[in-house]
Amino acid sequence: MVDIVLGAFYGDEGKGKVIDYISKDAKYSVRFSGGNNAGHSIEVDGKKFAFHLIPSGILNKDTKAILGNGVVIDPKVLLEEIDNLKKNGYDCSNLYISDKAHVIFPYHIELDKLEEELRGERKIGTTKKGIGPVYEDKFQRSGIRMEDLISDKFKDYLKENIFIKNRILNAFSHKGVDYEKILKDYLEYSEKLKPYVCDTTKMLHKAIDNNEYIVCEGAQATLLDIDFGTYPYVTSSNPTIGGVSTGTGIGSRYIDEVYGVIKAYSSRVGEGPYVTELNNEIGDKIRELGHEYGTTTGRPRRCGWLDLVALNYAIKVNGITSIALNHLDTVGKLDNIKLCTKYLVDGKEEEYFSSNLVFLRKAKPIYEEFPGNFDIRGLKDYDKLPKNAKDYVERIEDLTKTRVSIIGTGPGREDVIVRNKKVLSLKK
Ligand code: IMP
Repeated sequence: MVDIVLGAFYGDEGKGKVIDYISKDAKYSVRFSGGNNAGHSIEVDGKKFAFHLIPSGILNKDTKAILGNGVVIDPKVLLEEIDNLKKNGYDCSNLYISDKAHVIFPYHIELDKLEEELRGERKIGTTKKGIGPVYEDKFQRSGIRMEDLISDKFKDYLKENIFIKNRILNAFSHKGVDYEKILKDYLEYSEKLKPYVCDTTKMLHKAIDNNEYIVCEGAQATLLDIDFGTYPYVTSSNPTIGGVSTGTGIGSRYIDEVYGVIKAYSSRVGEGPYVTELNNEIGDKIRELGHEYGTTTGRPRRCGWLDLVALNYAIKVNGITSIALNHLDTVGKLDNIKLCTKYLVDGKEEEYFSSNLVFLRKAKPIYEEFPGNFDIRGLKDYDKLPKNAKDYVERIEDLTKTRVSIIGTGPGREDVIVRNKKVLSLKK
């Protein structure tokens, strides 16, 4: 039994909360793509943990937390997360890292910064964590994987890579990176990470045969996907459903529920088109009410209304079976809520999304309007929701033909209404 949690828009939809909720009974909690460009925080027993890499399942001793082969790993960041967990009483013996996951080096970070500077108008607004350059190396077949980092060939691989990267960096008047320093640091990281490295695909295949419950945690989101997102304003991996298979080794036949996480409004960080963006005081108000500032970079997020044209696209791309709607309480604090149901493109109404930039730049949102002013804090039962809140939720269901099965009613871990029979039965 494999369930997947994916972001439907531009990331930061609150996947962590949904993952946390459905993972309580998971035997495996798996990250399949991206790196420390992602970030989510979880509060347990009054302690707040900010994770960029480690799957949230790590906090449950009985859950095996896996970093799959599709993930890219900055060992320094990973070791900081491990140390912090150890300081707080979690021994991390339930952490497993794929031998095929690629490793981020300082030259990837330098190249990420340099490439962004050189892009000018086509600046992506990356997190500058080296994500693009490490995936470039992966697909160019010159990357260094975890299994290489812990092998005795590591020195040679690093030397070859730095030889080439320093020539590229020098061409951009960058003095290059220091082989000896990187070698020393990474040999230390290698020693510390070695005990966690293994063939995680084999582990997951055994888990499938043993009927164990696996939850795959998406990072980033559908519209940031390298293929289906708003290219080039995207990340360098597939945070969509295909990334689950290529980033873990789990075939689609084993996948059961696919949760698409959204907010009752929307947000985006970085550059790129955003049809329902609000560049006005309502956008500012949503940012303040929803605390929309980046977990990884602290950047203020761009905010706007919920876009069902884009959501229906995410449903089709990912085969979303269930919607998790966060921040319903936040839009309840507004007088009016708008829901984008169609686009107007070249004078014609359009129901289908396209990630084509020319199309998106021309698209104007067509809205339906709903009254807000509802307070849903503390509610646990869907039937007790005020009419205004229900009307909004049910219109989303009508127009997406998909059940809204989890509803976020506040910032806390337990602030959710669950309407999914499967989740309820898992919790018993
Ligand atoms: P990169 O992944 O650092 O290369 O950044 C590419 C784009 O994806 C930028 O617009 C980032 O802001 C965005 N991005 C990357 N990771 C996340 C995330 O976890 N949440 C939201 N946006 C992200």
